[in-house]
Amino acid sequence: MRYQSRTALAVLATSSLVNARSISQLCTVSNVQSALPANGTLLGIQMLPSTVTANTVYNATAGTGPGGSTSISSTTYNYCNVTVAYTRTGKNDRVPFRLRESVLRGGFSLATDPTEGFPYGAASGVTDAGYDAFSNSYDEVNLYGNGTINWDATYMLAYQALGELTKVGKPLTSAFYGLDDTRLYTYFSGCSDGGRQGMSQVQRWGEEYDGVVAGAPAFRFAQQQVSHVFPATVEQTIDYYPPPCELSKIVNATIAACDPLDGRTDGVSYTSLGFGFDKRAEGSSTTYQPAQNGTVTAEGVALAKAIYGGLHDSRGKRAFLSWQIAAELSDAETEYNSNTSSWELDIPSTGGEYVTRFVELVDADNLSNRDNVTYDTLVQWMNFGMFEYLDSLQTTIPDLTTFKSSGGKLLHYHGESDPSVPTANSVHYWQSVHAAMYGGEPANTKHLSELAEWYQLYLVPGAAHCGTNDLQPGPFPSSATLMQTIIDRVEKDEQPSRLNASVSSGAYEGETQRLCQWPDRPLWHDNSSFECVFDEKSYETWTYTLSAFNVTVY
Ligand SMILES: *[C@@H]1O[C@H](CO)[C@@H](O)[C@H](O)[C@H]1NC(C)=O
Ligand SMILES: *[C@@H]1O[C@H](CO)[C@@H](O)[C@H](O)[C@H]1NC(C)=O
Ligand SMILES: *[C@@H]1O[C@H](CO)[C@@H](O)[C@H](O)[C@H]1NC(C)=O
Ligand SMILES: *[C@@H]1O[C@H](CO)[C@@H](O)[C@H](O)[C@H]1NC(C)=O
Ligand SMILES: *[C@@H]1O[C@H](CO)[C@@H](O)[C@H](O)[C@H]1NC(C)=O
Ligand SMILES: *[C@@H]1O[C@H](CO)[C@@H](O)[C@H](O)[C@H]1NC(C)=O
Ligand SMILES: *[C@@H]1O[C@H](CO)[C@@H](O)[C@H](O)[C@H]1NC(C)=O
Ligand SMILES: *[C@@H]1O[C@H](CO)[C@@H](O)[C@H](O)[C@H]1NC(C)=O
Ligand SMILES: *[C@@H]1O[C@H](CO)[C@@H](O)[C@H](O)[C@H]1NC(C)=O
Ligand SMILES: *[C@@H]1O[C@H](CO)[C@@H](O)[C@H](O)[C@H]1NC(C)=O
Ligand SMILES: *[C@@H]1O[C@H](CO)[C@@H](O)[C@H](O)[C@H]1NC(C)=O
Ligand SMILES: *[C@@H]1O[C@H](CO)[C@@H](O)[C@H](O)[C@H]1NC(C)=O
Repeated sequence: MRYQSRTALAVLATSSLVNARSISQLCTVSNVQSALPANGTLLGIQMLPSTVTANTVYNATAGTGPGGSTSISSTTYNYCNVTVAYTRTGKNDRVPFRLRESVLRGGFSLATDPTEGFPYGAASGVTDAGYDAFSNSYDEVNLYGNGTINWDATYMLAYQALGELTKVGKPLTSAFYGLDDTRLYTYFSGCSDGGRQGMSQVQRWGEEYDGVVAGAPAFRFAQQQVSHVFPATVEQTIDYYPPPCELSKIVNATIAACDPLDGRTDGVSYTSLGFGFDKRAEGSSTTYQPAQNGTVTAEGVALAKAIYGGLHDSRGKRAFLSWQIAAELSDAETEYNSNTSSWELDIPSTGGEYVTRFVELVDADNLSNRDNVTYDTLVQWMNFGMFEYLDSLQTTIPDLTTFKSSGGKLLHYHGESDPSVPTANSVHYWQSVHAAMYGGEPANTKHLSELAEWYQLYLVPGAAHCGTNDLQPGPFPSSATLMQTIIDRVEKDEQPSRLNASVSSGAYEGETQRLCQWPDRPLWHDNSSFECVFDEKSYETWTYTLSAFNVTVY
C-alpha cells in the first residue's frame, strides 16, 4: 500500500483570468492532468495523474475565514473543483493510517473548506495531509497505539502538508490558467492552530508565501498545551475549588479596575501585567449548578493571583507566561458534585488530552487521576514535549530570514484577553524574532522600523480567542480586513502603520479603531481618539525569561 497524500484543490474562475473560455470548458480531467507539475520538478513529490477529478461547481457561496465576515457571504461563485493525489518518493511501503470515525475538532484540524480565497479573487486549496484530515482530527491519529507516535501524521499537521499543498498548488494554478508564475501571489490566513500553521509556513517554507496572516497562534506547543492544566493544579495545590460565580466576579472586577488605565472607560481593559484552543473541548456545559451568592473569598483571590502570575517551578523559576489580567479564567472552572454538594476539580480536556496523548503517549482522551501532580510535574511535562516535538509542533523557529529575503509579509494579531492561548505567548515570539534577527533592543527604532517592513504584530484590546469577547465590548478586525491589509501590503506595497478593527457591541458600537502596532500601546485622550505610544514600563511587563528550562525557549 502506498503512503499517499491527497491534495484537494479548488480553482476559481474569474473573468479576467478566463477570458472567453468558460470555466466548464477549462474544467476537464485532461486539462488538469496536463497542468500538473511534472515528476522531477518538485523534489520528493510525484503527482498521480490517474487520480485527478475535476467538476464545475455553480453558484457556490464562499466560506469565511477566522473572525468571519458577513459582507462577503452572499456572493456566489462558479469554480472548477479539482482533486489530485501525490505520493512521496521512497514512502511506497508505508502501511496506511488507521482511520477512525469521529467528529472534527477545531483545535487539531486543518482547513477543510477550499473556497475561502474566492472573495479575494484567489484559487484556494485544502489538503487531507495523508491521514484523511477531512474526516479525522489529528489528535485522533497522533498515536499508532500506546507508546508509538505517528510521526508521519505529526509532521504533516505540523507544517509539511500545507507546504506541499502550496508547492503543488502554485504551478498547477499557473498552468491551469496559462499564467506566468510572476503573476501569482500566495497567501495563508488562519487563527488558533491555524495561526500556528501560518507561523509554520513562515518558518519552514518562507520562500513559498507572499503574505501570511496568523491570529492567536497556538504555538510554543509544549508549554502552551500543558498550561491548560495549570489552573487545575493551582486549585489542587491550594486545595480550593471556587464556584464559577466567584471566578466571574473576580474577572469582572479586574476588567472594571483595568478599564480606565488606557484613558477611556469603555468596558475594555488595558492590561500590562502579565491552548489550546477555543471552547470546543471544555466538556459538557449543561451540568447542574446550584444558586451561588458570589462571595469572593481570600482563597479565590489567591487562586486568581497565582493563575495570572503564571507557572513557576519549586525553585521559583518561571516556566511559562500566563493569560493577561482580565482574561476569563476558563480553564479554572470547577464542576459541581451533587452527591457531596461541593465544587470539584474539572480538568479541561484540552490540556488533559494533551498530557495523556502527547506526553504520556497513552491512547486515551483525558486524564483521570491527577493526584500528586505538582508545578514541577507540569514543568517536566512541558520540558518533555518541547524536546519531543521541537522540530514539528513547537513551531517557534525565530530566524525568518528566508521569508523576509524572499519578500514575504507577516501580519500577526492576538486578542489581549485571550483566555485560551495567552497573549504574551505571541509577544514572546515577536521578541524572539526581534532578538534573533535584530539584536532585540526595543528602543532601537531603526531596527523596529526594519522589522515592521515585513513583520507586524497587533494586540486587539479586550478581544478573546480569535474573536470578540462577551465580557469586553472591544474592537476586532474582520477576516476581510485582515486579508485586504495583507494583499495591499504585498501587491500595492502599502505598508500599514495601523490595523482597522470595528466595535460590534456596547456603547461604542460601530466605531472603527485603527489598532496600534506592537510595541506601541493605545493611549486615549478624550473618549474619541487615541495615540499609539511606546511605554517602556508596559513593555517590561510583557517580557519574560522562561528560566525553569535549561535551554533558551524561543
Ligand atoms: C509520477 O510518478 C508516479 C509515481 O511513480 C507515477 O505513478 C506517475 O504516473 C508519474 N506521473 C507522470 C506524469 O508520469
Ligand atoms: C445560478 O444562478 C443563476 C442566477 O440565479 C441562475 O440563472 C442559474 O440557473 C444558476 N445555475 C445553476 C447551475 O444552478
Ligand atoms: C469536489 O471533488 C471531490 C472529489 O471528486 C468531491 O468529493 C467533492 O464533493 C467535490 N466538491 C464539490 C463541491 O463538488
Ligand atoms: C493503552 O493504555 C491505557 C492506559 O494504560 C489502557 O487503558 C488501554 O487499554 C491501552 N490500549 C491498548 C491498545 O493497549
Ligand atoms: C460578569 O459580567 C458579565 C457581563 O459583563 C455578566 O454576564 C456576569 O453575570 C458578571 N458576573 C458576575 C458574577 O456578576
Ligand atoms: C455564600 O455561599 C457560601 C457557600 O457557597 C457560604 O459559605 C457563604 O456563607 C455564603 N455567604 C453569604 C453571605 O451568604
Ligand atoms: C453520584 O452518585 C451516583 C450514585 O451513587 C453515582 O452514579 C455518580 O457517579 C455520582 N456522581 C459523582 C459526580 O460522583
Ligand atoms: C475520560 O475519558 C473516558 C473515556 O473516554 C470517559 O469515560 C471519562 O468519563 C472521561 N473522564 C473525564 C473526567 O472526563
Ligand atoms: C501520592 O502520594 C502519596 C504520598 O506520597 C502516595 O501514598 C500515593 O500513592 C500517591 N498517589 C498516586 C496516584 O501516585
Ligand atoms: C482602514 O481605514 C482607513 C481609514 O478609515 C481607510 O482609509 C483604509 O482603506 C482602511 N484599510 C483597510 C485595509 O480596510
Ligand atoms: C468620557 O465618557 C465618560 C463616560 O464613559 C464620561 O464620564 C466622561 O466625562 C467622558 N469624557 C470626556 C472628555 O468626554
Ligand atoms: C534544569 O536544571 C536544574 C539543575 O540541574 C534542574 O533542577 C531542573 O529540573 C532542570 N530543568 C528542567 C526543566 O529539567
